Amino acid sequence: MREERPRTVTTSASTPSRFGFATHLFCRECGATAALGASHACVECFGPLEVGYELPQVTRASIEAGPANIWRYASLLPVPQGIAATPNTEPGWTRLARTDQLARELGLRALWLKDERGNPTHSFKDRVVAVALAAAVEMGYKVLACPSTGNLANAVAAAAARAQIRSVVLIPADLEPQKIAATAVYGGTLVPVDGTYDDVNRLASELADDREDWAFVNVNVRPYYAEGSKTIGYEIAEQLGWRLPEQIVVPVASGAQLVKIDKAFRELIELGLVADTKYRVFGAQAAGCAPVAAAFRAGHDVVQPVKPDTIAKSLAIGNPADGPYVLDVVRRTGGAVADVSDDDVVHAIRLLAATEGVFGETASGVTLGVLRRLLDDGVLDPAAETVFINSGDGLKTLDAVGAPAGDRGWPGAGAIRPTLEAFEAWESSHAA
Ligand SMILES: Cc1ncc(COP(=O)(O)O)c(C=O)c1O
Ligand SMILES: [Zn+2]
Repeated sequence: MREERPRTVTTSASTPSRFGFATHLFCRECGATAALGASHACVECFGPLEVGYELPQVTRASIEAGPANIWRYASLLPVPQGIAATPNTEPGWTRLARTDQLARELGLRALWLKDERGNPTHSFKDRVVAVALAAAVEMGYKVLACPSTGNLANAVAAAAARAQIRSVVLIPADLEPQKIAATAVYGGTLVPVDGTYDDVNRLASELADDREDWAFVNVNVRPYYAEGSKTIGYEIAEQLGWRLPEQIVVPVASGAQLVKIDKAFRELIELGLVADTKYRVFGAQAAGCAPVAAAFRAGHDVVQPVKPDTIAKSLAIGNPADGPYVLDVVRRTGGAVADVSDDDVVHAIRLLAATEGVFGETASGVTLGVLRRLLDDGVLDPAAETVFINSGDGLKTLDAVGAPAGDRGWPGAGAIRPTLEAFEAWESSHAA
């Protein structure tokens, strides 16, 4: 098995730069370092670059005194110290909700939902985009761009509008109509591409080389962008009363979110902000796009790309950039990566809605579906306190739960006349 590169947080009395307390980039594969700036691949081995820090001695109190958004953790991110005062969408500080009814249904002792619908464009992507935008502005980029599976498109277009810079968003043409409309409304440039997300991503890489002042948040600014997902981990720990959960289930597309939640937990331990308690990280994929789950099951370190075919379009990345690092994290923490069918995804969306009043998107259905699968298989411990991520909003993936016109459950179909008689006739014909 490939050895995981040790990553340390050093703390010192360093003074912040325009990237806060970030001091350098380093290669996740060979450890070579590079200056902070507009690079994302190692010059030695082409491995992905990651942000390194000399973190200040932050305290719980100093964080708690910060704003109710991701900038309460600004000193742990590669952003300028005054970031909270700049025009941005102020994502984060979403609720961590105890989901007892769902827990009872599943036979779990203690279950929490991190509800990322509460972000400005209703998914966790607002976090990563806010950090990428801050770094891109520092580096002098003029355009905020991305290839997207949908939610990122919404977040980039909104953040660029708020910052009054141009956005260019590339999407697979077959995305959900709700995600397309919720991007176009912000007025940036939206380009549908005839191809899969992986095709769109390749085009974005070529464009990133060609257009010098375009910051593709998840391509050439990726080291900064990915750091934004750490804030999910920080918030969960803080909202639990400054401690770590025993188990966490996270959706996996590129895998960045999962890897960064683990990074956040490790930083909090190293900074002495939480106790060093054992936690296990689990990854969730849809069966129609499960390259990381397949590699996990096979005991492989490399991830074989697949061609996605699933209703969970937001997770439909067949060649995930952080796949090998997801495998590292779940193996180190004693977790797993698993997948569920599209039917299970829809079932899980309905279960979450009916037990907790939370309408999650298809990625949420994947996450809860996998949680349930892992419990059934005896992989998750029902007695251990568990958190799962509801990473996006069901209103953006309505077709997943919509019934065909004419079905009695579909709004508008089979309307009755506005009379008591008609209501009673309807009631008796719909009696269970
Ligand atoms: C709703 C939702 N959840 C989870 C993910 C997975 O994110 P990552 O690419 O960091 O694995 C995505 C990615 O697009 C998403 O849109
Ligand atoms: Zn390298």
